[in-house]
Amino acid sequence: MHALRVTLKRISVGAISLKNDVFLRALKREAVPYTPTWLMRQAGRYLPEYNATRARAGSFMGLAQNPAYAAEVTLQPLKRFNLDAAILFSDILTVPDAMGLGLSFAQGEGPRFAHPLRTEQDVNKLEVPDLSKLQYVFDAVSVIRTELDGRVPLIGFAGSPFTVACYMVEGKGSDDYRLIKSMLYARPDLLHRILQINAQTTAQYLNAQIKAGAQAVMIFDSWGGVLADQLFQQFSLHYTKQVVQQLIKEHEGRAVPSIVFTKGGGQWLEQIASCGADAVGLDWTVDLSGARKRVADSVAFQGNLDPMALFGGESAVRAEVRRVLDAFGEVGRGGHVFNLGHGISQFTPPEAVAVLVDEVRSYSPQFHGDGRKS
Ligand code: CP3
Repeated sequence: MHALRVTLKRISVGAISLKNDVFLRALKREAVPYTPTWLMRQAGRYLPEYNATRARAGSFMGLAQNPAYAAEVTLQPLKRFNLDAAILFSDILTVPDAMGLGLSFAQGEGPRFAHPLRTEQDVNKLEVPDLSKLQYVFDAVSVIRTELDGRVPLIGFAGSPFTVACYMVEGKGSDDYRLIKSMLYARPDLLHRILQINAQTTAQYLNAQIKAGAQAVMIFDSWGGVLADQLFQQFSLHYTKQVVQQLIKEHEGRAVPSIVFTKGGGQWLEQIASCGADAVGLDWTVDLSGARKRVADSVAFQGNLDPMALFGGESAVRAEVRRVLDAFGEVGRGGHVFNLGHGISQFTPPEAVAVLVDEVRSYSPQFHGDGRKS
């Protein structure tokens, strides 16, 4: 009885303390007054204040591994723009770093691993790491939750097992994915071993973020779209699904929705939508109206403005935002979270983001007008 009372108290505190839950409700396809918005890579180099904090931290990893700095940059875009969610400041590559691959980011260059996986021996040595090596991420989550003070929900994230494996095998970004595809075609058993370990680690990692306070989670499958049909299902979606199935579905008395985003995955939409996630992220090549019909609104969608539209000037930004909202149309029994179709470019003028957010807020309420489920 006493235990029950304590539990109930926790639930109500958790639920009441969130002042804006429009994002979480849209992911669950519940009624909301307008289309919530956040942007992939909303905390990043297009903001001068981000560059200033990064310079103080000395390096990207210095920023990500210091919870106070990570919290500071997470909150920067929310101070400027009326966004409906915050995303943890970190990177998908902290996971292989914890596995001992030695991550670094040189200024002006992408990520690099000192010890990429190239031989059978490298792969055999790989293990699920001790999650305490990622304690700095969980600490950042709790500091951010405290500083957010319930203003908007916090999104936790990880890369998909395949996308993270791309960097682990290539050792850096790639134009042609030659090394990982060589492994896939010549020694699929080795790649499957990496993917199994990544899937297990990623599920534990996301659940630890949820326990630390992440209120929704997103899996970035940035490179699944480079795979051939059938190989995408075997080497990417299969493992993403394993992660989703192990996720904690409820915490602090509230559902913890999940989002899966496969860039270039539009042709596999029905299969991605049945992986168990609440929402599917879409890039700008997909028609939102057709996407809804293909899955009969069984999931919410997140997206899908071309990030380059932000370079077109104010009237183009407004027109392209309206095009996305019009394509989704009357929200009805569906769910829509406005976002870009991939991360924001570092060259984006911040004013264009202000215009985007303003247009979504002023134009979207008409699509939420039928008062259903309220
Ligand atoms: O979205 C956010 O604001 C949260 C933070 C975040 C970062 N990376 C910070 C970051 C998130 C969600 C990511 C995800 C990520 N990281 C992905 C998946 C999403 C996508 O873009 O496809 C991938 C593939 C990575 C790996 C990665 N990290 C690359 C390829 C690079 C270099 C390319 C680039 O954009 O510069 C990074 C570095 C990185 N991660 C930066 C930021 C803000 C810029 C680095 C810097 O400050 O020097």
